[in-house]
Amino acid sequence: MTDTASGTDWQAWQQSWDRQQEWYLPDREERFRVMIDMVEAVVGPEPRVLDLACGTGSITDRLLKRFPKATSTGVDLDPALLTIARGSFAGDERVTFVAADLKDPHWVERLPYDTYDAVLTATALHWLHTEPLATLYGQLGGLVRDGGVFMNADRMIDTTTPRINAAERAHRHAAMDRAKEAGVLDWADWWALAAQDPVLAGPTAERYEIYGEHADGDMPSAQWHADTLRAAGFGEARAVWASPSDALVLAVK
Ligand SMILES: C[S@@+](CC[C@H](N)C(=O)[O-])C[C@H]1O[C@@H](n2cnc3c(N)ncnc32)[C@H](O)[C@@H]1O
Repeated sequence: MTDTASGTDWQAWQQSWDRQQEWYLPDREERFRVMIDMVEAVVGPEPRVLDLACGTGSITDRLLKRFPKATSTGVDLDPALLTIARGSFAGDERVTFVAADLKDPHWVERLPYDTYDAVLTATALHWLHTEPLATLYGQLGGLVRDGGVFMNADRMIDTTTPRINAAERAHRHAAMDRAKEAGVLDWADWWALAAQDPVLAGPTAERYEIYGEHADGDMPSAQWHADTLRAAGFGEARAVWASPSDALVLAVK
């Protein structure tokens, strides 16, 4: 969709965000597909969803394409990514965006609903250290309704397998280097482009004040996520998908 007032082509920004993220995560769309399949499996095709650390709203986009009767609240702290999200979904009454810091103890109070059928997140919670992440999981234990679902797709590192991890990392980075030589934009390139856009320049400067280049966090194992989610009040939790570097952990309340 192009914003006629600003002339911004939001879909073009969405597509360039997707290409940039896929440079890091070649299996990104497969991860989204399995996530949306498991939403349907656990809570059905008309869920009320919280897209946690939504960025440009990538999960919300895949969700609504599959389930037109779903609704979504996207929450994020990045003013530039939220600008793209709001521009892309402008006029869609199924979608609301909220600016909040997931490390703020009161962020939940900003949401338009007290409970959700599904809380979904991707490539985001490794921006938090394990202690604030465990606190966040405690909050999600109160936000997901009984029988509802939480899913986190992210890089999850099993430290008991260092040789496998090193081989996987070297193989993945070799493929990334080849793609970079072919002209793919990485994180820094993408943000440099956003900083030159007349609409995104202001919010991009703000996001650098908030985060710097990137927040610092941890990448605990899928087992850590499952155990911490059980401790937070979820009845069952385990990985439902994995690649050599990533996992999708699902927890049912
Ligand atoms: C790599 S992006 C992923 C966005 C989206 N989920 C996707 O898959 O395209 C990570 C997101 O996490 C958000 N994030 C990181 N820490 C956050 C925090 N403390 N509060 C809110 N959002 C946060 C960032 O602003 C960013 O939008």
